[in-house]
Amino acid sequence: MVRVFAPASLSNLGPGYDTLGIGLRGVGDVVEARLTKSGNIRVKTSAPLPLDVETNTAARAARVVLDQAGSNVGLDLTIYKGIPVGSGIGGSAASAAAGAWAANLLLEAPFQKTDLIDAVLEGESVASGGMRHGDNALPALLGGLLLTSPANPSDFRRIELRRPLHFALLLPDIEILTSKARARLPKEVPFRSSVLNAGDLAFLVHALIRGDWERLAPYMMRDRFVEPVRAACVPGYQRVREAALEAGAHGVAITGSGPAMFAIAPDAPLASAICDAMINACPVPARGIATETCAEGVRSCA
Ligand code: HSE
Repeated sequence: MVRVFAPASLSNLGPGYDTLGIGLRGVGDVVEARLTKSGNIRVKTSAPLPLDVETNTAARAARVVLDQAGSNVGLDLTIYKGIPVGSGIGGSAASAAAGAWAANLLLEAPFQKTDLIDAVLEGESVASGGMRHGDNALPALLGGLLLTSPANPSDFRRIELRRPLHFALLLPDIEILTSKARARLPKEVPFRSSVLNAGDLAFLVHALIRGDWERLAPYMMRDRFVEPVRAACVPGYQRVREAALEAGAHGVAITGSGPAMFAIAPDAPLASAICDAMINACPVPARGIATETCAEGVRSCA
């Protein structure tokens, strides 16, 4: 039997739709797995998740790993969700990464993590309407702050952090399905807005590379395409943004398809204070988590 943890992740960070992702410390999903002779993959979980191999992200990713290894063994997977379903912090991707890594370990680790990118992308895609995107999948697998290519999601670059990056997370107690949130986005956008967004993303990446957390906010906080559509589904979006900034955040945005929001905090104590301010401003019950970047992705756990 193996037991594997994969971290939650922030994605998009404002203008970086399907492009920017960050692994988070201390929040994630656990998958326990054992080999069976059945040739099938069976899933157990107490979370409200689909259980078959075509629609469960962990099972789908594990299936791809077994196929990649040419193995016809079976697997029993038990998924323990530390990440609330439909919260916006990469739960589908974390389960996919944990499922893929667990399958790899049970096969006596024929693959490195980077050999499993396709498996995790494929696993995660069953929760996002069939579209592959790497901004949660790759941080769940590899950890850290990553640039992933929407044109080729297995292509990525790691941005090494020059300074620790602290976050205040707000998890409102409602669920948004990624597949539905993606389907609502515009099919076409105005030329001028796309120029402005591309410029902001470039400046945001520059600030991330330089560790200029104090200069992130304007580039992170005026996405013209995705965040305005999703803000309408996030209770108290504007008030939460203002509360986080007043409490000292360097920038605030929705993560993934929401409803979770995150703020960049100057340090760990302020991350806790910003969490409290965001919870107070949120009109529905919500949980706050003060955390930071995790450098490591999926791994065995006790
Ligand atoms: N980039 C993706 C989106 C992340 O915003 O739809 C969701 O998991």
